[in-house]
Amino acid sequence: MARLPIIAGNWKMYKTRGEAAELAKTLVSAAGAVSNVEVVLCPTYTSLETVAQAIGGSRIKLGAQNCHFEEQGAFTGEISVPMLKEIGCAYVIIGHSERRQYYAETDENINKKALALYKHGLTPIICVGETLAQRQANKTAEVVTAQLRGCLSGLPADKAAASVIAYEPVWAIGTGVVATKEQAQEAHAIIRALVAEMFSKDVADKIRIQYGGSVKPDNVSELMAEPDIDGALVGGASLKADSFTAIVKF
Ligand code: 13P
Repeated sequence: MARLPIIAGNWKMYKTRGEAAELAKTLVSAAGAVSNVEVVLCPTYTSLETVAQAIGGSRIKLGAQNCHFEEQGAFTGEISVPMLKEIGCAYVIIGHSERRQYYAETDENINKKALALYKHGLTPIICVGETLAQRQANKTAEVVTAQLRGCLSGLPADKAAASVIAYEPVWAIGTGVVATKEQAQEAHAIIRALVAEMFSKDVADKIRIQYGGSVKPDNVSELMAEPDIDGALVGGASLKADSFTAIVKF
């Protein structure tokens, strides 16, 4: 079954508003009309509106890097889903390993965020992945399975089918050490089989699974050639127009 590949740039805490506008405009010229891949830009909160304006009228979509699960309330420093929707976000990355590691993000929280996103018609990019110690202890399947069960709990099947999962092994993020295509494919196959078990084969056939962790122009093609790899969540290489464009046009 054909799944539209999805390549997202996670800009993390990089780029001022001016820098974000410049990068987004360059990407619109270079890749704004690409239709065989869905392209998503995830800048910081402060650059969302600027990037929304820059990509307006192109095929590029807007995403945020996090959200709160409540619609409003006394949560200092947080941003809600309706606020992100108002600004034009179609996607929100949730459960990134940096948030799990530095901000004590739990699967239960991520699940609440996924449910909140669906309530408002946005799509989550749900991140899972094992640490190096967990991989070395042969716990990759166990860790990823537990994360995914927690994050997808209670989601209706049609919503699960529309979700994006990002498999991001922690040891490959920002390290230059990319998972081999065999390692990535193996994890993606485990994820798809679990989705089939939790929901149905139909949902598993539809759900898109991105790989993330040191994706670069020179390794994206071989990763994307694997049967269960449907896209990439790109950090460092998404911060420059030429490298991100080369990835999008793999
Ligand atoms: P790098 O591409 O810099 O390894 O980052 C991956 C990532 O964390 C994307 O969310």
